[in-house]
Amino acid sequence: MMIAIGKLTHAIRLQLINNQCRRVTSFSSVMSKFDVPSRYKDEKSVWVEYIGLALEYKPLNLGQGFPDFHAPEHVTTALAKTVTSENPLLNQYTRGFGHPRLVNALGKLYSKLLNRNLDANNEILVTAGAYEALFSTLQGHTNPGDEWIIIEPFFDCYVPMVESAGGIARFIPLKLTKSEGVLSSADWVFDKKEMESLFNDKTKGIILNTPHNPVGKVFTLEELEFIADLAKKWNALVVSDEVYEWMVYEPARHIRIATLPDMYERTITIGSAGKTFSVTGWKIGWAYGPVNLMNNLKVVHQNCVYTCATPIQEAVAMGFEEELKRYGQENCYFQSLARELLPKRDYMAKFLSDVGMSPTVPEGGYFMIADWKSLENYVGLGDEVDKYRDYRFTKWMTKNVGVQGIPPSAFYSEGHKHLAEDNVRYCFIKKDENLQKAADVLMKWRAKQA
Ligand SMILES: Cc1ncc(COP(=O)(O)O)c(C=O)c1O
Repeated sequence: MMIAIGKLTHAIRLQLINNQCRRVTSFSSVMSKFDVPSRYKDEKSVWVEYIGLALEYKPLNLGQGFPDFHAPEHVTTALAKTVTSENPLLNQYTRGFGHPRLVNALGKLYSKLLNRNLDANNEILVTAGAYEALFSTLQGHTNPGDEWIIIEPFFDCYVPMVESAGGIARFIPLKLTKSEGVLSSADWVFDKKEMESLFNDKTKGIILNTPHNPVGKVFTLEELEFIADLAKKWNALVVSDEVYEWMVYEPARHIRIATLPDMYERTITIGSAGKTFSVTGWKIGWAYGPVNLMNNLKVVHQNCVYTCATPIQEAVAMGFEEELKRYGQENCYFQSLARELLPKRDYMAKFLSDVGMSPTVPEGGYFMIADWKSLENYVGLGDEVDKYRDYRFTKWMTKNVGVQGIPPSAFYSEGHKHLAEDNVRYCFIKKDENLQKAADVLMKWRAKQA
C-alpha cells in the first residue's frame, strides 16, 4: 500500500512538473506577447538608477535639477487661492489646448519678448511640462526615416522621443576648445563643418537647447545665425528648448532663435513653468510657434493628455500676470532668480576647484560640469562595475563620500559616451547651507587623501 501511494505520489509529481513546464512555456509565450513594443528600447534610465541610489545612501544630492527652497510666495498663494476659490469651475476641466487665462498671459509675455503679436489661442499650446511639449512636437513632426540633429550632451529624453516616433537621431558633440585655466561654457562649441555635414534632404529638424543642460552654454548670436541659415537652406525645423530662459548670467544674453529673420516660421519654442517659477513638481509647460506647425502638436496632445490641470494653469497665469507688472524691476522673479543663483554658481565653481576638479563655469541654467580626472587616484573606481568611468566615479562618491552627482555620459549617444567619462554634473539651485555642507564634506574627504 505504501509503495502504491509512493508510486501514485511520484506519478502526480511528474504530472505536476509537466503541467508546470507547459505553464512556463505558455507563460513565456504570453509574456513575449507583452514585451515593450519595438519602437521603445527598454533601456535603463539614469534617473531611476540615481534616485534609487540617493534613497539608499542618503547623500547630499546635487544630482537632480530642482530647487530645495521655496517658490515665490505670490505663485504658491495663487494656487492655494485657486483651489479654494468660490468658482467651482477652477477645479474642473479647462480648454484642452491651454487654460484661457494662461494662454493669454503667455501670449502677452512672448509677444513682448518676440516683438510680434502672438495669437494666444492658436500659436500657444499648454502641456504637461516642457517634457510633453517636446514629446508632442517630436511625435507630431516625425515620419519614419526623418532625421533630427541633436547636439551632445543632450537632455536625455530627446533621443527616445525621436526614435519612438520612427525618426533617426544624428549627433554632433560640443567640444571643449580649452584645457587649462578657468573654463567657461562658452568654450564648448560645435564644429561648423561637422554641423553642416549633418544636414541633408532627410533632415526634419534640429533640437537646440539654450541655455543648455548640462553644460550651461548660452548659444551666441553667431552660432544661432549659423544654425538658422542651415535650417533655412535645408527647409528644416528648429525645436528650441528654452526652459532655462531666465537663468542667464551676465554678460551672456539669451537670444530666442525664433526672433532671427525668417525663423519664427520654422521654430517651435518650448518653455517650462517648473523652471521659470521654481515649481518643478507642477509640471506645466508650453510650446509656441506658427499655427501650421502648432497644429501637429495639438493633434498629439488632444489624443494623449487632452487637458492639463486647471488650478495649476490658473496659478501659473496669475504668476505671469504679477511678473509682467514687475517686468524690468528689481523684484521681478525673471531677473531676481538669476541674481540669486549667481553666487551659488561661483561658490560651487570655487569649492570644486579647491577640491581638485576642473569645473566649467556655466553662462546659464543651474548645472555645472566638472572634470574629476585629477582625483582618479583617490577614488575606488575598481569597486564599481559600470562600463563608463563617470558612472563608477559618481557611484563611488555617493557611497563613500556622501555627495551625489550625475554621470554626464548619460547625455551622449553610445558612440560618444567616452567624451564624458572624466566629467560629473552637479546642480547648484540648492540652499546655501546645503552647498556649504557639500563643500565641507568634499574638502574633508580631500584633506584625508593628502
Ligand atoms: C533641457 C530640459 N528640457 C526640458 C525639461 C523638462 O521640463 P519640465 O519639468 O517642465 O517637463 C528639463 C528638465 O529638467 C530640461 O532640463
